[in-house]
Amino acid sequence: MKEIRSLISVNDLSKEEILGLLQAAAQIEQSPQAYIDKAKGKVFSLLFFEPSTRTYFSFASAMERLGGSVLGFSQAGATSVAKGETLEDTVRMMAAYSDIMAVRHAEVGTLQRIVNVVEVPVINAGEGVAEHPTQTLVDLYTIFKNFKRLDVTIALYGDLKYSRPNHSLLLAGSRLGINFICVAPEELQMPEQYLEQAQKNGAHIKLTDDINSVINNIDVLYVTRLQKERLPPHLLYEELKKSYHVAPQLVKQMKESAIILHPLPRIGEIDTLVDHDPRAQYFAQAKNSVAVRMALLLFLLKN
Ligand code: NCD
Repeated sequence: MKEIRSLISVNDLSKEEILGLLQAAAQIEQSPQAYIDKAKGKVFSLLFFEPSTRTYFSFASAMERLGGSVLGFSQAGATSVAKGETLEDTVRMMAAYSDIMAVRHAEVGTLQRIVNVVEVPVINAGEGVAEHPTQTLVDLYTIFKNFKRLDVTIALYGDLKYSRPNHSLLLAGSRLGINFICVAPEELQMPEQYLEQAQKNGAHIKLTDDINSVINNIDVLYVTRLQKERLPPHLLYEELKKSYHVAPQLVKQMKESAIILHPLPRIGEIDTLVDHDPRAQYFAQAKNSVAVRMALLLFLLKN
């Protein structure tokens, strides 16, 4: 029997596979017409137990653009989960109705529980405070599109502790020659487990709480939302929110060639005045996600 490939962590993909996916996404963007029936007859289920706009709809759009179809929910309250059905039973049924699935859930460990009971590829569409591997593929693709290389210096700026896109980007980027500066107050700094792995991968990593000391030397400013819903009660949202902000005065100090990325949604951490700066690439980044997710769907369906 063929091995079923799932994507739970960026560590599930080799360096060559990551680069191959970026190349495939570029080809898809260049000739989308060539892909309109590549997943014809395939059904993709989206199980989102946490809110989402971009990830849910860009996955749906990706499957539609490949000629496949989509079923799913982004409000678990509308399913039998609300009647008390176990996660395992819900996902078993959804797997029976589809060829591949993407799951978003608040609790770390859920994705592995699902992989243990289904026989279709499972994509992690964001798992609690752990990882968000497909966001990282989108980020890497956007970086490659802008710089034509990946060995850039990224400042991760914001909630590095509770915001999962930072973790996946550090783990994958550290295998691809990216250097990182983690800019956050102590309460929001990058967890040790990710720093250790990234260092083992050979990345140069610097930690600071002062964005001004690094802003003129970086290629990518990667900003994330303070994860209000994941903060432990002793941490005060309003206080921590004041600890970082991207305004035009800060952007002025960046290199001309640098870019600003954000997985979105932003809740005030990037001033809307910054949107007009050519370095603001977060909306382009969100748009790139369709081609990247198309490439990933084809890759997992073929495996
Ligand atoms: C992120 C997430 O869900 O982790 N959103 C996304 O997928 N673009 C970021 C966030 O919610 O802050």
